[in-house]
Amino acid sequence: MNRLARRALLALSMLAAGPAVAQQFPSRTLTIIVPFAAGGPTDTVSRLVAETMGRELGQTVVVENAGGAGGTIGSQRVAQARPDGYTLLLHHIGMATTPSLYRRLGYDPVGAFEPVGLVTEVPMTLVAKKDFPATTLQEAITVIRRDRENLNYANAGIGAASHLCGLLLMKAVDAPMTTVPFRGTGPAMQEILAGRIDLMCDQTTNTTEQINAGALRVFSVTTESRIPALPNVPTSAEAGLPAFQVSVWHGLYAPKGTPAPVVQRLSQALQVALRDEKLVARFAELGTTPVAQERATPEAHRAFWQADIAKWRPIIQAAGQYAD
Ligand code: MLT
Repeated sequence: MNRLARRALLALSMLAAGPAVAQQFPSRTLTIIVPFAAGGPTDTVSRLVAETMGRELGQTVVVENAGGAGGTIGSQRVAQARPDGYTLLLHHIGMATTPSLYRRLGYDPVGAFEPVGLVTEVPMTLVAKKDFPATTLQEAITVIRRDRENLNYANAGIGAASHLCGLLLMKAVDAPMTTVPFRGTGPAMQEILAGRIDLMCDQTTNTTEQINAGALRVFSVTTESRIPALPNVPTSAEAGLPAFQVSVWHGLYAPKGTPAPVVQRLSQALQVALRDEKLVARFAELGTTPVAQERATPEAHRAFWQADIAKWRPIIQAAGQYAD
C-alpha cells in the first residue's frame, strides 16, 4: 500500500474516531516545527506560544527547528506528518508566497495544511551593522545606490520575510544588492552584529533589543505608525519611503486530515495563549501584539491566508523570480 493510500486510510480512521480522539487530546507531548533556525524571530514567537499553549493543554509543547530553503524544509516535515494534532507548523507570510515562488515542491503548499489560527503580525525594521556610514534612511539610500556593488544584504532564503522585504527595498530604491542567504535571521543577526553583513530587513521580534542596546543602526520601521517598543524609529513614510511597508503575519497549522475536533481544541488553546499576560507583555517588549481573538480561529486564518496567496501570486509572476 503506497504512502498516499496509507495517509488516506489513517485520515479516515482519525475522522471516524474524531470525537473520541478529541476527548483524549492531547495525551502526550506536542511538537511545533519552526521552519527557520533557532534564535530568530519565528523561533522566538513559537517558543512563547508553545509554553503558554502547553499550560492550557496540560501537555508539554516542544519547538523543533528545521530551517532552510526559505522555510520549505520544515513545512514539508509537517505536510507529511501523521494528522493527529501532535505535530504542528508555526510559519508566516512565507505560506502565502511559497505556492507561487516554488513550482517543484515535494508537497502541496496549500492542500497539505489545516489552518489552526493566526498568531501575530510583526513589523519589520531596516537595520545595518553598527558602523554603517549612514544614520537616516535617506543617507542609507544614497550609500546603497552609490556602493551597492560592495554591499551585502542578509535574508533567510527565497520566500522568507527578510527576502520579500529586501525585494521591496531594492525595488523602492532601484538598487539590487548581493544577498547572502541564511537558514534564518537568527544566524544572520550574529553576522550583522559582527560587522560581516551590511544590511538586513528583519522582524522587530529579532531586532528590537539589539536596536535598543545600540548594537545596530536602524533606519525605519515598515508599519504605518511608530511602535511603542521603538519610539524614536521613524516609519518608512516619515523617513521618505512610503512604499516600503510590510508586516509579517504568523499562523499555526496542522497536517491535512487532522480531525476537526482536534483542530478546534488547538485553536481554543491558542486563543487562550494569546490572552496570556506574560505572552502579551513579552510580545510588546519585542514590538508586536497578538492578533485579535476572532482572527485566531481556523476559519479566519484560512480566509486571510487564501486572500494573501491571491495577493502575492500576480506580484511574484510579474517579477518572474522563482525559487526553483
Ligand atoms: C526567521 O525566523 O528566521 C525569519 O522568520 C526568517 C524570515 O522569514 O526572514
